[in-house]
Amino acid sequence: MARQGVIVAIDQGTSATKAVALDGAGRVRGSVTSPLGQSHPRPGWVEQDANAILAGVCSAVAEVVAQVEEPLLGLGLSSQRESALLWDTRTGEPLGPMLGWQDRRTAGAAAGLVAVTDEVRERSGLPIDPMFSALKLAWLLDEVDPDRSRSARGEIAAGTVDSWLVHALTGEHRIEIGNASRTQLLNLATGAWDERLLEIFGVPAAVLPRVVASTEPTRPIARFGGARIHAVLGDSHSALYAHGVRESGAVKVTYGTGSSVMGLLAGDGRIPAGLVGTIAWQLGDAPHRLAFEGNILATGATMAWLSRLLGRPVADLAALARTAPAEHGVHLVPAFAGLGAPYWDPGAGAILTGFDLGTDAAVLARAGAESIAQQVEDVLAAADAAGPVTDVLADGGPSGDDWLMQLQADVSGRGVHRSARESLSAYGVGLVAAEALGLSIPPDAGATTFTPALPAEQAGRRRDAWRRAVRLARATPSGITADPTTT
Ligand code: G3P
Repeated sequence: MARQGVIVAIDQGTSATKAVALDGAGRVRGSVTSPLGQSHPRPGWVEQDANAILAGVCSAVAEVVAQVEEPLLGLGLSSQRESALLWDTRTGEPLGPMLGWQDRRTAGAAAGLVAVTDEVRERSGLPIDPMFSALKLAWLLDEVDPDRSRSARGEIAAGTVDSWLVHALTGEHRIEIGNASRTQLLNLATGAWDERLLEIFGVPAAVLPRVVASTEPTRPIARFGGARIHAVLGDSHSALYAHGVRESGAVKVTYGTGSSVMGLLAGDGRIPAGLVGTIAWQLGDAPHRLAFEGNILATGATMAWLSRLLGRPVADLAALARTAPAEHGVHLVPAFAGLGAPYWDPGAGAILTGFDLGTDAAVLARAGAESIAQQVEDVLAAADAAGPVTDVLADGGPSGDDWLMQLQADVSGRGVHRSARESLSAYGVGLVAAEALGLSIPPDAGATTFTPALPAEQAGRRRDAWRRAVRLARATPSGITADPTTT
């Protein structure tokens, strides 16, 4: 790098905030992780403390800058998406909790909008689901401003994690276009707030932030020595960028609490059935790029649940799973909060089938791991409609498990290439920030490849059995009460 200094890429995720210092060659010079908690006041409710998120970001950035002892040239911010909150425009303090993306309290309201499903999907690219921000913002507004008069007077601001952080750090009320596309209030074609969607969800334009390109720099941030945020991306979008994906054809899977399968859409913009349309990014003055995505609601979360149930650390479950026989006949469909892509069935219930008195912890751990690979394959199979997916780019914490990656290759019959980098969600936005600063960092380099080794006929039998289990889950009522006010 000609200029001495580092770019700090922040990855504000559901369970932690990471700050990674990158030098001009893309080398990680320092890294700090600050854990983040959630609360679950009622079944299906997921809340986070917006001030704790802000504090975690500030401390992680300060610590990583102290670690590297080099000037901070600028920052990039990738963040969890869809999670939403309100704050008071006079005090800057949150009005209520931040509702996490996994929060299902609006399932009843979602069901009530069935008549406008097609219209909403046409405009926003998204199916009506409690995951997206629109229903969460409406719920929060109903709590503090039922007649929307405070909103009209400009007393309330609404935002996602990126808008909250940028506002708290700079005073600007803005939202990055890719994050905005996950609110379900943005028109996918125009990239602007859609009046009809605002009307449908009851969110007044007055509370919404200004939509900006992914590379619009923020004002200087006093807390970060006057450095600016030069790039903002949704975490999944950032991982796609970090994999080097710039054109349609390549598909990535980010394994996490849930998982995201994503690829850029071809010119015709056709969104495969069962998947959603979203804005990947808008770089500089170029038009925004569209992507398809399939969100799986519970993957890593399934292993976390099994870990609590079996009283063993998640890390031990991977080793345990590989000791179970391959043909064990047990299926776990982790529809803890309904099923996401490609089913989008909030009413599906979690099920465990095919067990008997001999079923042990190893089989359960294996069934959990298989549910991850099978759900990912459900989405990849849907993505084939946008063009055959022969190979998959993998990243995210659980992808570090070689056995799981081989299982994915076997279940899918597709090559799996796992990135050599650990924090792709941070790295991607770091790359974009570097490019915005005139630096050129190479994209992700190096991957480990897993080649399908299971005969197609066996893989096909396992897929059939999995599909039967999914049908059963969809016929099983969800444990979550649709209208939590009646509990
Ligand atoms: O869509 C939700 C996603 O952005 C959250 O990602 O990494 O925080 O689980 P993560």
